[in-house]
Amino acid sequence: MRKRLVAGNWKMHKSPSEAKAWFSALVRQRPNTQAEAALLVPFTHLAYAKEVLENSGIHWGAQDVSAHREGAYTGEVSALMLCDLGCRYAIVGHSERRSHHAESDALVAQKMLRLLEFSIVPILCVGEPLEVREAGKHLSYTLGQLEASLAGVEPASPAHLVVAYEPVWAIGTGKTATPEDAEAMHQAIRQWLARRYGTAFAEETRILYGGSVKPDNATALFSQPNIDGGLVGGASLKLDDYLRLLLA
Ligand code: 13P
Repeated sequence: MRKRLVAGNWKMHKSPSEAKAWFSALVRQRPNTQAEAALLVPFTHLAYAKEVLENSGIHWGAQDVSAHREGAYTGEVSALMLCDLGCRYAIVGHSERRSHHAESDALVAQKMLRLLEFSIVPILCVGEPLEVREAGKHLSYTLGQLEASLAGVEPASPAHLVVAYEPVWAIGTGKTATPEDAEAMHQAIRQWLARRYGTAFAEETRILYGGSVKPDNATALFSQPNIDGGLVGGASLKLDDYLRLLLA
């Protein structure tokens, strides 16, 4: 009932022209699969994404958005701009932004509100750092992040929200959460969503796993009952790997 989503987070990789060629190759080589494909690319690549991917069934989006609607905010990119470029999704609260740019849960909530004004689906990232996991406090930490990041946020339907569980210790490290550990967290997130938005909403909300997802571990992760796909960094940069993830 929940459509699998394989979302590639390109982070700060590839030039716009490299991206354009990659998008074209994806359109040509895309396997026949039920999984939804989406690419979260740098702002500079979005116009090419729209040009090449429009009407292909493949979605695209951004990795961040401004918390402001418009104005004197040098360097910022608004939800209206993303909407105009056809973005279906935007990542908010990625741990790299939380740590390198000191983004708070309150700021993340503001960004979600801006996206929802334009019906852009936020992919809300949550997840614990290593020391929290080692202290056995990962559930309360991650659910606390979820609660604070969704304060005042009321998506119109479950189609307007994606949650990504990304344990910080698994990002770019080659260390993946075991399918069982990830599933336990995803189940807890779904239960929390049910308390917050109701059971029907929670049952239809997609919860992605992120953190060193690769073609050789994706099937085990994605086959867990509460894992609805992945938010994939490194492996989404290589077309062959990304195609294999769509088939996992
Ligand atoms: P890696 O897949 O490279 O570990 O990155 C995960 C991530 O941060 C996706 O948002």
